[in-house]
Amino acid sequence: MLNRCDQVASWQKLNELKVTKSSLDLTNAFLNQANRFEHFSVDAPHVFVDLSKCMWDEEVENALLELANETQVFSLRDALFKGESINTTEGRSVMHWLLRTPKGTQIPAGLGSAHAEVLTTLDAFLSFAEKVRSNDSITDVVNIGIGGSDLGPQMAIRALAEYVTPTKSFHFISNIDAHEIAGVLDKLDPNKTLFLISSKSFTTIETMTNAQTAKQWFINGGGKNIDQHFVGLTSNVLLAKEFGIVTTFGFWDWVGGRYSMWSSIGLAIAIAIGAKAFKEFLQGAFEMDEHFKSAEPKDNLPLKLGLLDVWYRNFLNYKSRNIAPYHSALYRLPAYLQQLDMESNGKSVDKSAQGLSYGTASVLWGEPGTNGQHAFFQMLHQGTDVIPIEFIAVKTPSHAHTNHHELLLANALAQAQAFMVGDANENKARYFAGNRPSMFTILERLTPTSLGALIALSEHRTFVAGAVWGINSFDQYGVELGKTLTLNIMKQFTNSEFTNLDPSTQGLLRRLR
Ligand code: F6P
Repeated sequence: MLNRCDQVASWQKLNELKVTKSSLDLTNAFLNQANRFEHFSVDAPHVFVDLSKCMWDEEVENALLELANETQVFSLRDALFKGESINTTEGRSVMHWLLRTPKGTQIPAGLGSAHAEVLTTLDAFLSFAEKVRSNDSITDVVNIGIGGSDLGPQMAIRALAEYVTPTKSFHFISNIDAHEIAGVLDKLDPNKTLFLISSKSFTTIETMTNAQTAKQWFINGGGKNIDQHFVGLTSNVLLAKEFGIVTTFGFWDWVGGRYSMWSSIGLAIAIAIGAKAFKEFLQGAFEMDEHFKSAEPKDNLPLKLGLLDVWYRNFLNYKSRNIAPYHSALYRLPAYLQQLDMESNGKSVDKSAQGLSYGTASVLWGEPGTNGQHAFFQMLHQGTDVIPIEFIAVKTPSHAHTNHHELLLANALAQAQAFMVGDANENKARYFAGNRPSMFTILERLTPTSLGALIALSEHRTFVAGAVWGINSFDQYGVELGKTLTLNIMKQFTNSEFTNLDPSTQGLLRRLR
């Protein structure tokens, strides 16, 4: 039986601390603790994070580490890495980490055959990726998928632009809105296009509708050898075959959609950057897995970030987190993290189906700096809500414009500084209260390895917060109701009488149909 977080002693302690710490002043905290930067910085594999401008101190940190103890985060982490059935509502284990565990690694008892299957599938889809890469007659690769079957591959391919083969263009179709598919297909030649139909379930209505439209477009446009132009990435190989797909690469029910880009769902990434770089991407994530498994709690970055999220959400009442990547290639990272965190931890019952008396996932959003600075940063600096900002900077760029890069980094540093120090201007319009928290992440370079590490860090951070909250981070029933109601409304587009529709929906449907 898990200890409910709001019932344990450290939660009460944190409740007391929230009163005394509400007057915590970050600038003074640095004056009072000469080594605050060193103390609150963590060097994890390929990722350095400075947490010294976060709204906490050692007393809070210690209480949070105690909270992790009391809520059995460590035993849940061990259960995750043993392949136990920790996705309780669906009765599944959660083993996306196994997808990036290299050959030759000691595997927990009972998982050897799963790992062998992972490695065989990996070899198969990587060798397919290499074949596509060397096939000059394929000029365009189109990934059709949504949610986890879109956001991961799309985010990674954009982030790793420097590594992407220039011989092919990569397109992503996720939305049921046909403006998207029409806009992509209009420019393509069926006989030069490879479609990757990415769907764990192979039933998602957006993906299936787009896949059918693509198939029809292929046939109508004189496409030959459909079997060579459509590939299925799915754990439902049977449905993919029914669709008419011959080449499929599978994965397993223990891989959640939003955790799936390490599996065959990552085929688009592998085609884009090649098998070697894809393995580096897995390696970066694996190193972060190892760090999460074995680093001391005080040095354990995913643990500290997840605990900080709990402190912010439940004690300081921050309801939102801003992601500010200072690297334009990371422009899809906020969207990717939204699904990862909000679909995982946007829950209001615990694992025993009891309602919660405390908040869970916060609202996550963001845009690359410096664009955000000239849009919503005004609100972050002088608005009435305190929203912690997460700066992500990359030391070495992949271009030669040193002056641009120094200006970019100077902007990130200056913003983080401004949030903390503020400006006690006598003109109230120009007054900045300051004392606004931020964290600062640094990657040496944006490479497949560092991206893999950064993403695995985010996965485990989400895991930690969910573990403290006692929720199941691995189901997503919250997206089901809308799907069912869509089908009901679809049937009524031509009805004169409506059933099961509220007056507002009826009024809107009358206008829209
Ligand atoms: O609607 C939510 C969801 O199930 C996500 O969790 C998932 O990533 C997405 O839909 C796509 O699902 P599938 O890969 O099965 O098409």
